[in-house]
Amino acid sequence: MSPLGTVNESSKLGWRGLIEEYRAFLPVRPDTKVISLGEGATPLIYARHLSELKSANVYLKFEGANPTGSFKDRGMTLAITKAIEAGSKAVVCASTGNTSASAAAYATAADVSCIVLIPAGYIALGKLAQALIYGAKVVQIRGNFDKALEIVRELGETKPVTVVNSINPYRIEGQKTGAFEVVDQLGFAPDYHFIPVGNAGNITAYWKGYNEYVSAGKCDTLPKMIGVQAAGAAPIVLGHPVENPDTIATAIRIGNPASWKGALLAKSESGGDIFSVTDSEILFAYRMLAKSESVFCEPASASSVAGLIKTDITPGSSVVCVLTGHGLKDPDTAISQIEVPNAVDATIEAISEAIFL
Ligand code: F0G
Repeated sequence: MSPLGTVNESSKLGWRGLIEEYRAFLPVRPDTKVISLGEGATPLIYARHLSELKSANVYLKFEGANPTGSFKDRGMTLAITKAIEAGSKAVVCASTGNTSASAAAYATAADVSCIVLIPAGYIALGKLAQALIYGAKVVQIRGNFDKALEIVRELGETKPVTVVNSINPYRIEGQKTGAFEVVDQLGFAPDYHFIPVGNAGNITAYWKGYNEYVSAGKCDTLPKMIGVQAAGAAPIVLGHPVENPDTIATAIRIGNPASWKGALLAKSESGGDIFSVTDSEILFAYRMLAKSESVFCEPASASSVAGLIKTDITPGSSVVCVLTGHGLKDPDTAISQIEVPNAVDATIEAISEAIFL
Protein backbone atom coordinates (compact mmCIF):
# COMPACT_ATOMS: atom_id res chain seq x y z
CA MET A 1 0.00 0.00 0.00
CA SER A 2 1.19 3.53 -0.77
CA PRO A 3 1.97 5.75 2.22
CA LEU A 4 -0.53 8.51 3.07
CA GLY A 5 -0.88 11.31 0.56
CA THR A 6 1.08 9.68 -2.22
CA VAL A 7 -0.06 8.39 -5.56
CA ASN A 8 0.47 4.92 -6.87
CA GLU A 9 2.85 4.92 -9.83
CA SER A 10 0.16 3.49 -12.10
CA SER A 11 -2.28 6.32 -11.35
CA LYS A 12 -3.55 7.97 -14.56
CA LEU A 13 -1.38 5.61 -16.63
CA GLY A 14 1.89 6.77 -15.15
CA TRP A 15 1.00 10.36 -14.27
CA ARG A 16 2.44 10.92 -10.79
CA GLY A 17 0.71 14.17 -9.89
CA LEU A 18 1.85 17.60 -11.00
CA ILE A 19 4.62 18.13 -8.43
CA GLU A 20 6.51 15.06 -9.62
CA GLU A 21 5.80 15.80 -13.28
CA TYR A 22 6.90 19.46 -13.10
CA ARG A 23 9.40 19.17 -10.24
CA ALA A 24 12.07 21.23 -12.06
CA PHE A 25 9.74 24.25 -12.12
CA LEU A 26 8.52 24.01 -8.53
CA PRO A 27 10.03 24.93 -5.14
CA VAL A 28 10.52 21.38 -3.83
CA ARG A 29 13.66 19.65 -2.62
CA PRO A 30 14.69 16.11 -3.56
CA ASP A 31 13.64 14.95 -0.07
CA THR A 32 10.36 16.86 0.10
CA LYS A 33 7.47 14.58 1.09
CA VAL A 34 4.92 15.23 -1.64
CA ILE A 35 1.21 15.23 -0.78
CA SER A 36 -0.66 14.35 -3.95
CA LEU A 37 -4.00 12.95 -5.05
CA GLY A 38 -2.93 12.58 -8.68
CA GLU A 39 -4.03 16.10 -9.71
CA GLY A 40 -3.31 17.62 -13.11
CA ALA A 41 -3.21 16.03 -16.59
CA THR A 42 -6.71 17.37 -17.18
CA PRO A 43 -8.22 17.08 -20.68
CA LEU A 44 -7.80 19.79 -23.30
CA ILE A 45 -10.97 19.28 -25.30
CA TYR A 46 -11.42 20.57 -28.86
CA ALA A 47 -14.66 22.58 -28.90
CA ARG A 48 -16.28 21.86 -32.27
CA HIS A 49 -19.15 24.31 -32.12
CA LEU A 50 -17.27 27.18 -30.53
CA SER A 51 -14.48 26.71 -33.09
CA GLU A 52 -17.00 27.00 -35.89
CA LEU A 53 -18.73 29.98 -34.26
CA LYS A 54 -15.47 31.92 -33.89
CA SER A 55 -13.72 30.59 -37.04
CA ALA A 56 -10.89 29.56 -34.75
CA ASN A 57 -9.47 26.54 -32.98
CA VAL A 58 -11.03 26.63 -29.53
CA TYR A 59 -9.96 24.26 -26.74
CA LEU A 60 -11.46 23.76 -23.29
CA LYS A 61 -9.07 23.01 -20.42
CA PHE A 62 -11.42 21.00 -18.23
CA GLU A 63 -10.21 21.46 -14.68
CA GLY A 64 -13.30 19.74 -13.33
CA ALA A 65 -11.36 16.51 -13.97
CA ASN A 66 -9.09 17.16 -10.98
CA PRO A 67 -9.50 14.95 -7.87
CA THR A 68 -11.83 17.35 -6.02
CA GLY A 69 -13.35 18.69 -9.22
CA SER A 70 -11.59 22.05 -9.61
CA PHE A 71 -8.30 23.73 -10.50
CA LYS A 72 -7.70 24.44 -6.81
CA ASP A 73 -6.06 21.02 -6.48
CA ARG A 74 -3.08 22.29 -8.52
CA GLY A 75 -2.27 24.88 -5.90
CA MET A 76 -3.33 22.81 -2.94
CA THR A 77 -0.98 19.87 -3.57
CA LEU A 78 1.95 22.28 -3.27
CA ALA A 79 0.52 24.48 -0.49
CA ILE A 80 -0.14 21.44 1.71
CA THR A 81 3.16 19.79 0.78
CA LYS A 82 5.03 22.95 1.87
CA ALA A 83 2.89 23.40 4.98
CA ILE A 84 3.83 19.87 6.07
CA GLU A 85 7.48 20.51 5.26
CA ALA A 86 7.34 23.57 7.54
CA GLY A 87 5.84 21.47 10.35
CA SER A 88 2.32 22.90 10.22
CA LYS A 89 -0.41 20.96 12.04
CA ALA A 90 -3.42 22.93 10.78
CA VAL A 91 -4.45 24.87 7.70
CA VAL A 92 -7.12 27.51 7.22
CA CYS A 93 -8.83 29.14 4.25
CA ALA A 94 -11.69 31.40 3.27
CA SER A 95 -13.62 30.10 0.33
CA THR A 96 -16.49 30.44 -2.09
CA GLY A 97 -16.45 26.62 -2.03
CA ASN A 98 -13.79 25.06 -4.22
CA THR A 99 -10.78 26.07 -2.16
CA SER A 100 -12.48 24.63 0.93
CA ALA A 101 -13.18 21.31 -0.80
CA SER A 102 -9.61 21.06 -2.02
CA ALA A 103 -7.99 22.16 1.24
CA ALA A 104 -10.12 19.67 3.16
CA ALA A 105 -9.12 16.77 0.89
CA TYR A 106 -5.38 17.51 0.85
CA ALA A 107 -5.29 18.24 4.60
CA THR A 108 -6.84 14.83 5.19
CA ALA A 109 -4.25 13.25 2.89
CA ALA A 110 -1.55 14.87 5.01
CA ASP A 111 -3.16 14.08 8.38
CA VAL A 112 -3.45 17.72 9.43
CA SER A 113 -6.60 19.55 10.45
CA CYS A 114 -8.40 21.99 8.19
CA ILE A 115 -10.57 24.96 9.07
CA VAL A 116 -12.64 26.66 6.39
CA LEU A 117 -14.64 29.89 6.53
CA ILE A 118 -17.42 30.16 3.98
CA PRO A 119 -20.15 32.73 3.31
CA ALA A 120 -23.40 31.22 4.64
CA GLY A 121 -25.99 30.68 1.93
CA TYR A 122 -23.63 31.32 -0.99
CA ILE A 123 -21.87 28.00 -1.41
CA ALA A 124 -22.92 25.50 -4.06
CA LEU A 125 -24.30 22.35 -2.44
CA GLY A 126 -21.67 19.95 -3.78
CA LYS A 127 -18.79 22.05 -2.45
CA LEU A 128 -20.28 22.26 1.03
CA ALA A 129 -20.83 18.49 0.99
CA GLN A 130 -17.20 17.96 -0.05
CA ALA A 131 -15.66 20.12 2.67
CA LEU A 132 -17.77 18.38 5.32
CA ILE A 133 -17.29 14.82 4.14
CA TYR A 134 -13.51 15.24 3.79
CA GLY A 135 -13.63 16.16 7.46
CA ALA A 136 -12.90 19.90 7.60
CA LYS A 137 -14.10 22.13 10.43
CA VAL A 138 -16.53 24.25 8.47
CA VAL A 139 -17.57 27.66 9.78
CA GLN A 140 -20.34 29.39 7.87
CA ILE A 141 -20.12 33.13 8.47
CA ARG A 142 -22.72 35.84 8.10
CA GLY A 143 -20.64 37.80 5.65
CA ASN A 144 -19.16 37.44 2.18
CA PHE A 145 -15.89 35.92 0.91
CA ASP A 146 -13.97 39.19 1.27
CA LYS A 147 -14.87 39.37 4.97
CA ALA A 148 -13.94 35.70 5.44
CA LEU A 149 -10.52 36.27 3.83
CA GLU A 150 -9.91 39.29 6.04
CA ILE A 151 -10.51 37.12 9.12
CA VAL A 152 -8.39 34.27 7.74
CA ARG A 153 -5.45 36.65 7.19
CA GLU A 154 -5.74 37.64 10.86
CA LEU A 155 -5.98 34.01 12.01
CA GLY A 156 -2.82 33.27 10.01
CA GLU A 157 -0.98 36.03 11.87
CA THR A 158 -2.25 35.25 15.37
CA LYS A 159 -2.82 31.45 15.51
CA PRO A 160 -0.69 28.38 14.71
CA VAL A 161 -2.39 27.81 11.35
CA THR A 162 -1.13 28.03 7.76
CA VAL A 163 -3.27 30.05 5.36
CA VAL A 164 -3.85 28.12 2.12
CA ASN A 165 -5.68 30.78 0.15
CA SER A 166 -3.89 32.06 -2.94
CA ILE A 167 -2.15 34.74 -0.83
CA ASN A 168 0.03 31.72 -0.02
CA PRO A 169 2.60 31.90 -2.88
CA TYR A 170 2.79 28.10 -3.17
CA ARG A 171 -0.80 28.10 -4.42
CA ILE A 172 0.20 30.28 -7.38
CA GLU A 173 3.30 28.12 -8.00
CA GLY A 174 1.17 24.98 -8.20
CA GLN A 175 -1.52 26.56 -10.35
CA LYS A 176 0.97 27.80 -12.95
CA THR A 177 1.30 24.16 -14.07
CA GLY A 178 -2.03 24.62 -15.85
CA ALA A 179 -0.18 26.75 -18.42
CA PHE A 180 2.58 24.11 -18.71
CA GLU A 181 -0.03 21.47 -19.52
CA VAL A 182 -1.75 23.62 -22.14
CA VAL A 183 1.57 24.07 -23.96
CA ASP A 184 2.52 20.39 -23.54
CA GLN A 185 -0.89 19.33 -24.90
CA LEU A 186 -1.07 21.79 -27.82
CA GLY A 187 2.63 21.83 -28.64
CA PHE A 188 2.58 25.64 -28.52
CA ALA A 189 1.03 28.49 -26.52
CA PRO A 190 -2.42 29.60 -27.72
CA ASP A 191 -3.03 33.07 -29.16
CA TYR A 192 -5.72 33.78 -26.57
CA HIS A 193 -6.24 32.46 -23.08
CA PHE A 194 -9.69 33.11 -21.56
CA ILE A 195 -10.07 32.66 -17.79
CA PRO A 196 -12.64 33.47 -15.10
CA VAL A 197 -11.42 35.99 -12.51
CA GLY A 198 -12.53 35.98 -8.88
CA ASN A 199 -9.76 36.43 -6.33
CA ALA A 200 -7.43 36.70 -9.37
CA GLY A 201 -4.92 34.05 -8.27
CA ASN A 202 -5.44 31.83 -11.30
CA ILE A 203 -4.91 34.46 -14.00
CA THR A 204 -1.75 35.48 -12.13
CA ALA A 205 -0.61 31.85 -12.00
CA TYR A 206 -1.26 31.08 -15.69
CA TRP A 207 0.61 34.19 -16.79
CA LYS A 208 3.57 33.16 -14.63
CA GLY A 209 3.43 29.65 -16.08
CA TYR A 210 3.42 30.79 -19.71
CA ASN A 211 6.32 33.14 -19.06
CA GLU A 212 8.36 30.44 -17.34
CA TYR A 213 7.73 28.07 -20.24
CA VAL A 214 8.96 30.67 -22.74
CA SER A 215 12.09 31.22 -20.62
CA ALA A 216 12.68 27.47 -20.52
CA GLY A 217 12.41 27.27 -24.31
CA LYS A 218 9.26 25.13 -24.17
CA CYS A 219 7.30 27.58 -26.35
CA ASP A 220 8.09 30.71 -28.37
CA THR A 221 5.06 32.92 -27.86
CA LEU A 222 2.78 34.16 -25.11
CA PRO A 223 -1.03 34.31 -25.26
CA LYS A 224 -3.16 37.39 -24.77
CA MET A 225 -4.64 36.88 -21.32
CA ILE A 226 -8.36 37.64 -21.25
CA GLY A 227 -9.81 37.73 -17.72
CA VAL A 228 -13.57 37.55 -17.32
CA GLN A 229 -15.47 38.75 -14.25
CA ALA A 230 -19.19 38.50 -13.47
CA ALA A 231 -20.91 41.85 -13.99
CA GLY A 232 -22.20 41.98 -10.40
CA ALA A 233 -18.73 41.18 -9.01
CA ALA A 234 -16.37 43.06 -11.30
CA PRO A 235 -14.07 45.19 -9.13
CA ILE A 236 -11.10 44.97 -11.51
CA VAL A 237 -13.24 46.08 -14.45
CA LEU A 238 -14.73 48.94 -12.42
CA GLY A 239 -11.41 49.93 -10.90
CA HIS A 240 -12.63 49.85 -7.31
CA PRO A 241 -13.72 47.24 -4.73
CA VAL A 242 -17.35 46.16 -4.79
CA GLU A 243 -18.94 46.21 -1.33
CA ASN A 244 -21.76 43.73 -2.01
CA PRO A 245 -20.76 41.55 -4.96
CA ASP A 246 -23.58 39.51 -6.44
CA THR A 247 -23.74 36.88 -9.18
CA ILE A 248 -25.21 33.46 -9.84
CA ALA A 249 -21.59 32.33 -10.32
CA THR A 250 -21.01 32.09 -6.56
CA ALA A 251 -17.43 30.84 -7.02
CA ILE A 252 -16.41 34.30 -8.28
CA ARG A 253 -18.67 36.36 -6.01
CA ILE A 254 -15.73 38.45 -4.82
CA GLY A 255 -15.53 42.22 -4.39
CA ASN A 256 -11.90 42.82 -3.45
CA PRO A 257 -9.53 40.32 -5.10
CA ALA A 258 -6.27 39.51 -3.31
CA SER A 259 -4.27 39.20 -6.56
CA TRP A 260 -5.68 42.35 -8.17
CA LYS A 261 -2.22 43.57 -9.17
CA GLY A 262 -1.27 40.22 -10.67
CA ALA A 263 -4.38 40.28 -12.84
CA LEU A 264 -3.65 43.80 -14.10
CA LEU A 265 -0.07 42.80 -14.87
CA ALA A 266 -1.21 39.74 -16.86
CA LYS A 267 -3.58 41.96 -18.81
CA SER A 268 -1.09 44.74 -19.59
CA GLU A 269 2.02 42.62 -20.22
CA SER A 270 0.13 40.24 -22.53
CA GLY A 271 -1.80 42.94 -24.38
CA GLY A 272 -4.97 41.25 -23.17
CA ASP A 273 -8.13 42.46 -21.48
CA ILE A 274 -10.30 42.07 -18.40
CA PHE A 275 -14.02 42.65 -18.83
CA SER A 276 -17.31 41.42 -17.45
CA VAL A 277 -20.21 39.24 -18.56
CA THR A 278 -23.75 39.24 -17.20
CA ASP A 279 -25.34 36.34 -15.36
CA SER A 280 -27.55 35.59 -18.36
CA GLU A 281 -24.47 35.50 -20.64
CA ILE A 282 -22.82 33.11 -18.16
CA LEU A 283 -25.88 30.85 -18.08
CA PHE A 284 -26.14 30.85 -21.87
CA ALA A 285 -22.51 29.70 -22.14
CA TYR A 286 -23.07 27.17 -19.31
CA ARG A 287 -26.00 25.51 -21.10
CA MET A 288 -24.28 25.72 -24.49
CA LEU A 289 -21.12 24.02 -23.20
CA ALA A 290 -23.11 21.05 -21.93
CA LYS A 291 -25.46 20.75 -24.89
CA SER A 292 -23.04 21.52 -27.73
CA GLU A 293 -19.60 20.57 -26.43
CA SER A 294 -20.54 17.81 -23.94
CA VAL A 295 -18.72 19.58 -21.12
CA PHE A 296 -20.57 20.16 -17.87
CA CYS A 297 -18.83 22.86 -15.86
CA GLU A 298 -19.98 25.09 -13.04
CA PRO A 299 -21.43 28.56 -13.79
CA ALA A 300 -18.28 30.53 -12.83
CA SER A 301 -16.25 28.39 -15.23
CA ALA A 302 -18.59 29.19 -18.11
CA SER A 303 -17.74 32.88 -17.78
CA SER A 304 -14.53 32.26 -19.75
CA VAL A 305 -16.59 30.98 -22.67
CA ALA A 306 -19.19 33.75 -22.22
CA GLY A 307 -16.23 36.11 -22.60
CA LEU A 308 -15.02 34.38 -25.75
CA ILE A 309 -18.49 34.54 -27.33
CA LYS A 310 -18.45 38.35 -26.88
CA THR A 311 -14.92 38.89 -28.16
CA ASP A 312 -13.83 39.59 -31.72
CA ILE A 313 -10.83 37.37 -32.28
CA THR A 314 -8.62 37.07 -35.33
CA PRO A 315 -9.95 34.22 -37.54
CA GLY A 316 -7.75 31.14 -37.48
CA SER A 317 -6.48 31.89 -33.96
CA SER A 318 -5.91 29.25 -31.31
CA VAL A 319 -7.91 29.82 -28.16
CA VAL A 320 -7.92 28.12 -24.77
CA CYS A 321 -10.77 28.66 -22.31
CA VAL A 322 -10.19 27.35 -18.81
CA LEU A 323 -13.22 25.62 -17.32
CA THR A 324 -12.27 25.85 -13.68
CA GLY A 325 -14.72 23.53 -11.94
CA HIS A 326 -17.10 20.60 -12.47
CA GLY A 327 -20.81 21.12 -13.13
CA LEU A 328 -21.80 18.51 -10.53
CA LYS A 329 -20.61 20.88 -7.81
CA ASP A 330 -23.68 23.02 -8.28
CA PRO A 331 -26.69 20.78 -8.94
CA ASP A 332 -29.16 23.52 -7.95
CA THR A 333 -28.10 25.79 -10.81
CA ALA A 334 -28.20 22.90 -13.27
CA ILE A 335 -31.70 21.92 -12.22
CA SER A 336 -32.87 25.54 -12.40
CA GLN A 337 -31.82 25.63 -16.07
CA ILE A 338 -33.64 22.54 -17.24
CA GLU A 339 -37.08 20.99 -17.06
CA VAL A 340 -37.00 17.80 -15.01
CA PRO A 341 -39.46 15.30 -16.52
CA ASN A 342 -42.27 13.85 -14.41
CA ALA A 343 -42.34 10.12 -13.64
CA VAL A 344 -44.52 7.96 -15.89
CA ASP A 345 -45.81 4.39 -15.62
CA ALA A 346 -43.30 1.69 -16.54
CA THR A 347 -45.15 0.69 -19.70
CA ILE A 348 -44.20 0.98 -23.38
CA GLU A 349 -47.35 3.06 -23.99
CA ALA A 350 -46.65 5.61 -21.26
CA ILE A 351 -42.98 5.86 -22.18
CA SER A 352 -43.78 6.20 -25.89
CA GLU A 353 -46.20 8.99 -25.08
CA ALA A 354 -43.59 10.73 -22.91
CA ILE A 355 -41.01 10.73 -25.70
CA PHE A 356 -43.57 11.59 -28.44
CA LEU A 357 -42.96 8.45 -30.46
N1 F0G B 1 -13.70 29.41 -11.08
C1 F0G B 1 -14.01 28.68 -10.01
C2 F0G B 1 -14.83 27.46 -10.20
C3 F0G B 1 -13.57 29.10 -8.72
O1 F0G B 1 -13.87 28.35 -7.66
C4 F0G B 1 -12.80 30.27 -8.60
C5 F0G B 1 -12.34 30.73 -7.30
C6 F0G B 1 -12.50 30.98 -9.77
C7 F0G B 1 -12.96 30.52 -10.99
C8 F0G B 1 -11.69 32.21 -9.77
O2 F0G B 1 -10.35 31.96 -9.58
O3 F0G B 1 -10.04 33.28 -7.52
O4 F0G B 1 -8.09 32.45 -8.83
O5 F0G B 1 -9.54 34.26 -9.73
N2 F0G B 1 -12.69 30.21 -6.20
C9 F0G B 1 -12.15 30.55 -4.90
C10 F0G B 1 -12.64 29.58 -3.84
C11 F0G B 1 -12.27 31.97 -4.52
O6 F0G B 1 -12.72 29.94 -2.66
O7 F0G B 1 -12.92 28.44 -4.17
P1 F0G B 1 -9.43 33.05 -8.87
